[in-house]
Amino acid sequence: AQINQAEFIKSSVDTESCPSDGAPEFALVGRSNVGKSSLLNSLVRRKKLALTSKKPGKTQCINHFRINDSWYLVDLPGFGYASAPKELRTDWAKFTKDYFLNRSTLVSVFLLIDASIPAKKIDLEYASWLGQNQIPMTLVFTKCDKRKKKKNGGKPPEENVQDFQELIQEFFQAAPPWIMTSSVTNQGRDEILLHMAQLRNY
Ligand code: GTP
Ligand code: MG
Repeated sequence: AQINQAEFIKSSVDTESCPSDGAPEFALVGRSNVGKSSLLNSLVRRKKLALTSKKPGKTQCINHFRINDSWYLVDLPGFGYASAPKELRTDWAKFTKDYFLNRSTLVSVFLLIDASIPAKKIDLEYASWLGQNQIPMTLVFTKCDKRKKKKNGGKPPEENVQDFQELIQEFFQAAPPWIMTSSVTNQGRDEILLHMAQLRNY
């Protein structure tokens, strides 16, 4: 299930302009700065394939990366980036929702959630929207290497992960699959690749 080849194909501004070869794809989505691009780079073992940045809002299109010449990883814009102009924000919401609802080759959305902090309202809203629209989803918890000092009142990643799953369970008939990851230690990388391989073979 390893990635031997990864190639940036194109940035699309709407579903219609996405690649039309029918290859299966997985979309990585999540709040701006959750670590989507870092995870993508960790999966393909390349540092700068997807542009990463400390500045939120860097990824602004539907970006297709062709993997092993047979399937796609798709990097989508982060949501919940408050400093982006309002028109831009609604635009992103519109085109990503259209992409989720109409992209027939989309096998599963991988929703990234920062495990180093408590659940955010916008993450819960996003998960609930995917659940209510019956879009297949896998939960990917990021930054599992980050541990807040106990004295700062932070919970360990395992507890945030459990809290999140409890909060979203009402939106799903069956609990979505979930994977704990870190782009720093590469925790969860093999698990994600294996899960994607299994989903492609359905
Ligand atoms: P946008 O493209 O702006 O939506 O952001 P993104 O979700 O692609 O986030 P990106 O991968 O650019 O990472 C944002 C910041 O989080 C960077 O400073 C990363 O170094 C950091 N980061 C990402 N993943 C991890 C992780 O697993 N552990 C830790 N400790 N930091 C991470
Ligand atoms: Mg990004």
